[in-house]
Amino acid sequence: MSVLELEDVNAFYGNSHILFDLDLTVEEGEVVALLGRNGAGKTTTLRAITGTVPRREGRIDYRGQDITDESVDDISDMGVKLVPEERRVFPTLTVHENLQVARDACETPREIDEMYDIFPALSDLRGNDARNLSGGEQQMLSVARALVQDPDLLLLDEPTEGLAPVIVDDLREVFADVVQRDVTVFITEQNVEFALELSERAYIIEKGANAWEGSIDELEEQEDLLDEYLSVSTAEAD
Ligand SMILES: Nc1ncnc2c1ncn2[C@@H]1O[C@H](COP(=O)(O)OP(=O)(O)OP(=O)(O)O)[C@@H](O)[C@H]1O
Ligand SMILES: [Mg+2]
Repeated sequence: MSVLELEDVNAFYGNSHILFDLDLTVEEGEVVALLGRNGAGKTTTLRAITGTVPRREGRIDYRGQDITDESVDDISDMGVKLVPEERRVFPTLTVHENLQVARDACETPREIDEMYDIFPALSDLRGNDARNLSGGEQQMLSVARALVQDPDLLLLDEPTEGLAPVIVDDLREVFADVVQRDVTVFITEQNVEFALELSERAYIIEKGANAWEGSIDELEEQEDLLDEYLSVSTAEAD
């Protein structure tokens, strides 16, 4: 049984039809990338999975259960956690308090110390207000807040967006650790290099529809694909 399976998924914002008959699957323990240009529908796909898109049709199965009509809270309680594009931290709470709040909101959380093991930078900053963290540190905190809730399926929406290359290098190392931690990961990125290093398989979507799917090895061999569908980032992909 797949962890996640989308079949003929369509999504709408009001009258705008955004996703068109999207199909994809994510298997146990995999790290799968969802790639595509600006506006291709990556965030909307994650919102369809978590139930926050206003209207969705088709079928979304999570561990064999149809969640297409489940509420946002129920889907979250099942263990599907999204780290959104806009980093979600409480600015006036400290790093530690941010983790505590996330932990308290969950029935079967992980230990905060485990988060400090994964993100040593956060351990050093535990008494600092989140608003004083750099973008990269806030991103780590955002991921740590999701991880402390012991997700079964972690959805990461463009974790490197807006971060300086040197910060992205740091994140790459910690994320390589995160993905080893007994969690299935579905990650969207425009930074193709970052996504390819972490992932085993990828889907490319264009204008809300499936354009390509395959292994990372296949994708790396077919540079024309990157040019065709992801021209924005190919310069960084080498
Ligand atoms: N709340 C909304 N209301 C109406 N249209 C929206 C809304 N959010 C997104 N869209 C449109 O849906 C399409 C897909 O957007 P989406 O945010 O899913 O793309 P994306 O692949 O995540 O892009 P990016 O790489 O810029 O984050 C775009 O055309 C966008 O303008
Ligand atoms: Mg997006």
